[in-house]
Amino acid sequence: MYISAILSIEMALNLATIRRQFPILEEKVGNRPLIYLDNAATAQKPLAVLDAMRHFYLHDNANPHRGMHILAERATAALEDARASVTSFLHARHPREIVFTKNATEGINIVANGLGKKWTKGDAVVVSVLEHHSNVVPWLQLKEARGIDVEWIDVDEEGKLDLSSLDRLLKKGNVRLVSVTALSNVFGIRPPLEEIIRRAHAAGALVLVDAAQSVAHGPTDVAALNCDFLVFSGHKLYGPTGIGVLYGKESLLATLPPLLGGGMMIQQVTEQSFVPADVPARFEGGTPPVAEAVGLHAAIDWLLQFDWKDIADHERALLGLAQEELTAVPGLTILGPKDVAHRAGTICFTVDGIHPHDLTHLLGERGICLRAGHHCAQPLHARFSLPATTRLSVALYNTPDEIRSVAPAIRDVLQLLKAEN
Ligand SMILES: Cc1ncc(COP(=O)(O)O)c(C=O)c1O
Repeated sequence: MYISAILSIEMALNLATIRRQFPILEEKVGNRPLIYLDNAATAQKPLAVLDAMRHFYLHDNANPHRGMHILAERATAALEDARASVTSFLHARHPREIVFTKNATEGINIVANGLGKKWTKGDAVVVSVLEHHSNVVPWLQLKEARGIDVEWIDVDEEGKLDLSSLDRLLKKGNVRLVSVTALSNVFGIRPPLEEIIRRAHAAGALVLVDAAQSVAHGPTDVAALNCDFLVFSGHKLYGPTGIGVLYGKESLLATLPPLLGGGMMIQQVTEQSFVPADVPARFEGGTPPVAEAVGLHAAIDWLLQFDWKDIADHERALLGLAQEELTAVPGLTILGPKDVAHRAGTICFTVDGIHPHDLTHLLGERGICLRAGHHCAQPLHARFSLPATTRLSVALYNTPDEIRSVAPAIRDVLQLLKAEN
């Protein structure tokens, strides 16, 4: 069913050329090829990213914004060029709306710290059952510290958000923020962001979008979405670890106090007080991750050479193939949307009679890199009474043959375990 789609898309993307830009994909596990299907955890990095970071350290390295010499000027330009690139990547209005962070987690913490200082008992944050712990724990910390309520949008069996539960919560009139993922790292489903944002804004609530999973799988347009905040991590976007982005509407960022105090985030410091810098510098205390910003810039340039539609078609074809093949494995249950058209990035599953950790470990020995556990989404796993699942997640460099190797390997492992028992 997916074969003709896969063949034509392979030609559109030229997978062989793409894969040559990821030498790590040539690694072997024993004498077997390494098959990397753990991209939702972190994507591999193309040579363009590694080369850009190496070039920075070889030719441009200095502490930005502080010096008056040539290298400091180059480092400052590299950092601000990266900010401009992210601005255009997200369709933000101005680079002042782009804060460099360590990762998506830090971005959410900056917003929680800043907004939370203004909230008191009775105020509420709404999250969905799909959320990653990064978009849960900062709000639970505010619950502990400020006595706010953390309320939940439920999902159905396929992971679709129950928007009537959102409406019920919004009607109470105390919701200050709705914080929701753009793409579930477990169910691979995209909540209807436009609708959520429209309803939240109508009720006077702000909206934060966790785009950690979605950024690598399709375009992100903060202006069209009209979200108030959005976060992502560079490392899931073929960029380096150690850098992430917080987007915020400038008028909102300007009202938030900084999370980290230190150098570079101030206008003035006296013995007894300080005045924070304007945005975005006020949220970037300390020496920023300049080489990582250069790497992120290179990753964005690298990714944008492709058509988003080709990427989406290719990845959907891979997921469709995976879904078809995995469904045929006896005892295997796939979580999330049944129709692959509603899925991106990820497929999570369980297999009767085998713990996901054992299955994933034994597949790892065969060179197939998946992930097992609760994927930092314990409330979601608890909602479906699952201690853990196994996750297969794709990137644009994955091939149909890699996907085809998974189901037979699972059958192999099951056979082996049956023979042992
Ligand atoms: C949906 C989602 N949100 C947030 C995060 C946190 O990303 P990071 O650990 O890079 O901050 C992840 C990471 O897996 C994620 O999948």
